[in-house]
Amino acid sequence: MESLGRVLIVIPTYNERDNLPMITARVRAALPGADVLVVDDNSPDGTGEVADGIAAGDERVHVLHREGKEGLGAAYIHAFRWGLDEGYNVLVEMDADGSHQPEELHKLLEAIDDGADLSIGSRWVPGGRVVNWPFARVLLSRGANIYTRLMLGMPVRDATAGFRAYRASTLEKIGLADVESQGYCFQVDLTLRTNRHGLRVVEVPITFVERTVGTSKMSSRVMAESFWRVAVWGLQGLPARLRGRRD
Ligand code: GDD
Ligand code: MN
Repeated sequence: MESLGRVLIVIPTYNERDNLPMITARVRAALPGADVLVVDDNSPDGTGEVADGIAAGDERVHVLHREGKEGLGAAYIHAFRWGLDEGYNVLVEMDADGSHQPEELHKLLEAIDDGADLSIGSRWVPGGRVVNWPFARVLLSRGANIYTRLMLGMPVRDATAGFRAYRASTLEKIGLADVESQGYCFQVDLTLRTNRHGLRVVEVPITFVERTVGTSKMSSRVMAESFWRVAVWGLQGLPARLRGRRD
């Protein structure tokens, strides 16, 4: 897949000290030709220093240090800006906790190679799976995706997924400067922008494995932001959807 050009795997971290060496080693083994960018929000547990240690011994690993915890969306936008300025051709998102398996990264890249502008590692398409998630969390993710599909009318089954690959051209076209999403709804935000620009979104089935080390940063604040922002986007898009139905 050399035709893809330079690939950057972005890994956002907040208190992932005990996961980071594991995930970077697995990514480097799975895709030796790709670079890694860890974007850390000044984690109190010292993840930033662990990242610096890994980067010191591996020229393909880079670290962005942010001042404090401003949310997943803000961290990704900072990282994408860095990656675009550095001239990467494909920018990949994945969690640090092992839920997204580095051994499945090639599926995302193959979909891009086949012409996708955004490929999503999806839990909710045939063949997709979730391992060890409590039932409440399955309900939350499925409910969030049903709500999102009703409100936005996108033909995407896992719009909240955090395992995905963007062509650099996609990120340039959809515009990052005016993204306001701070938390996990950033995922839906960028999916919607990609869809509304008429770009090609492809879902590939993946197996999501719940973390065994550390804790989730999902919070009621993250959920509330997703709920109201999706409602606002839905209302904003309503006139166009109604017009689309009539003619
Ligand atoms: N830099 C930074 N700043 N990183 C963050 C922040 C933040 O504010 N919040 C979370 N992260 C990092 C975590 O350290 C982890 O590497 C990744 O983002 C995902 O966070 P988790 O807390 O493990 O998320 P989750 O397992 O509950 O949620 C999963 O499902 C969501 C809904 O489908 C993830 O896959 C999310 O990406 C996804 O949106
Ligand atoms: Mn997780």
